[in-house]
Amino acid sequence: MNFKEELKEYQEIINLELEKHIRKEQCLEKVLNESVEYSLMAGGKRLRPILVLATYSLFKKNIKKCIPYAVAIEMVHNFSLIHDDLPGIDNDNFRHGKPTNHKKFNEATAILAGDSLLNNAYMVIGKDLKETSPENEIKKKIEILDEFSSAVDKMILGEYIDTEYEGKEVLKEHLEYMDKNKTGALIRLSVRMGAILADADKNDLELLTNYAEKIGLAFQIKDDILSEEGDEKILGKPVGNDKELEKCTYVSKYGLDGSKEKLNILIDDALKSLQKYGEKAEFLRDLAIYIKEREK
Ligand code: IPE
Ligand code: IPE
Ligand code: MG
Ligand code: MG
Repeated sequence: MNFKEELKEYQEIINLELEKHIRKEQCLEKVLNESVEYSLMAGGKRLRPILVLATYSLFKKNIKKCIPYAVAIEMVHNFSLIHDDLPGIDNDNFRHGKPTNHKKFNEATAILAGDSLLNNAYMVIGKDLKETSPENEIKKKIEILDEFSSAVDKMILGEYIDTEYEGKEVLKEHLEYMDKNKTGALIRLSVRMGAILADADKNDLELLTNYAEKIGLAFQIKDDILSEEGDEKILGKPVGNDKELEKCTYVSKYGLDGSKEKLNILIDDALKSLQKYGEKAEFLRDLAIYIKEREK
């Protein structure tokens, strides 16, 4: 299987699992459920849950154990996107080539759909914990829950900084801090969850955490580049919006060439962390290159 086929196969697994969490019943809150479905099933790349499964697969075969954590992180990610697009944050009208959640529904529904996704993520993990035995497995998963909640917290504080610093001058180290939190934290968590669930040892966890930190920051730098020179039709979201809002981004701070240089260095570093794993890590390697070369 080549990379594209494997990526698609992973995406299909995730989509099927997410679909199971969509509420379809007739009820008073039917539109809220539709709003959740609208964003969750809108065609996201599923990068974070794929990282959970692919990292786990480096060590073990049966990915079933990872599913609740893969689902939960994609729910949180979609919560972050719905809220990120709101008028009070980025005020964006398009995502995934469609109206943003608050444009399709309304602001109140979008806020609550985001809240619902965040909460459902924890419900999924709670259910898994309830069904887990023996004791040492439970302990490991509680440690994951602890990391999960603190990574979500980091994403939120990163979003706060991003919003608060619109139009203001930000130091280079503050920009990195913002991006490591708003985008890096969930990507780091994804990889670490896969590794911890697979009982990776300390050394492996360290190498993979380094891989994750590098691709996490790289992912946001590429997002900044695409916001400057991407193709709106392929990207499915607005180009030029960072500039319009005077966002502090890698492009505003280092220019396009400087950003691309940083992106290349980060991806090279990420690849170095995978050397030990040889062919087994081919997919993770290709994923890092995909992050650098993606057009959406
Ligand atoms: C977009 O993330 C927001 C950032 C953290 C930069 P993705 O590009 O992973 O979003 P989807 O889910 O694939 O649309
Ligand atoms: C989004 O960052 C990060 C989170 C949602 C946590 P951006 O605002 O840069 O991402 P896009 O370009 O809207 O997807
Ligand atoms: Mg934003
Ligand atoms: Mg945005």
